[in-house]
Amino acid sequence: MPPSEMDAEVFLTYANVSEEDVRNRTVVVIDVLRACSTIATALERGARAVMPVADMAEAGKIAANLGPDVYRLGGERDGDKIDGYHLGNSPAEYAAETVQGRDIILNTTNGTRALTQATSAEHLVVGCFLNASRVVDFVRAAADEVTLICAGHNNRLSLEDTLCAGLLLDRLWDDRLPDVVTDSAHTAFTLYDTDRTSLETSLRRANHAEELVALGYADDLDYCFRVDALSVLPYHTDNRLLRYDEQSTA
Ligand code: MLT
Repeated sequence: MPPSEMDAEVFLTYANVSEEDVRNRTVVVIDVLRACSTIATALERGARAVMPVADMAEAGKIAANLGPDVYRLGGERDGDKIDGYHLGNSPAEYAAETVQGRDIILNTTNGTRALTQATSAEHLVVGCFLNASRVVDFVRAAADEVTLICAGHNNRLSLEDTLCAGLLLDRLWDDRLPDVVTDSAHTAFTLYDTDRTSLETSLRRANHAEELVALGYADDLDYCFRVDALSVLPYHTDNRLLRYDEQSTA
């Protein structure tokens, strides 16, 4: 099948994604602000693995089985670092000297929950603007179908994730809406097509972007909205995300 006809399904939030929806599919989970951008950054800067978890209890259980220097606990609630954790959810905190050679246990409100809900996928990868090209190359090589799951924000659509899904579709479909398309894929593609010439302006108006600015994380927007800045592909295997090149040769 030519790439321009690739079968693509889009979930605009992860709230109603079931195991059935992802089984035997190639799945991309998208959380631009900020979990997926943070995961890509941590792996790019040398983290050994990122373990996405759904809640505090799971994070604590994993940490209890690791030596104190082997891991770092990262995550947020309401945008800020969780009490007692080493790191928040700002990619800027995931510097090479902090993450190199370590496992990162990551616990966020939407992004890591979306990931834990999609683990029955045939292939599960992490997508954001930073690694958009890498995601498109992987999907094209792996399958003739894809499911894009936008994490969204507190069970609602988020503009930044929808626009990122639209950008991925635009590339997978070579700039042209296929004749047969689902409503949600149509929505993401069309929204991106409308906003593509003023993408950054639209992204800065997103509700979650404005919330992060109010919390003092304006620099994270500059970082997370860069398209194709990183070539890393986080790939899920055995309850952890590894750089795709490393997992494929492991
Ligand atoms: C989330 O998972 O909800 C986000 O990554 C929140 C954030 O911006 O830290």
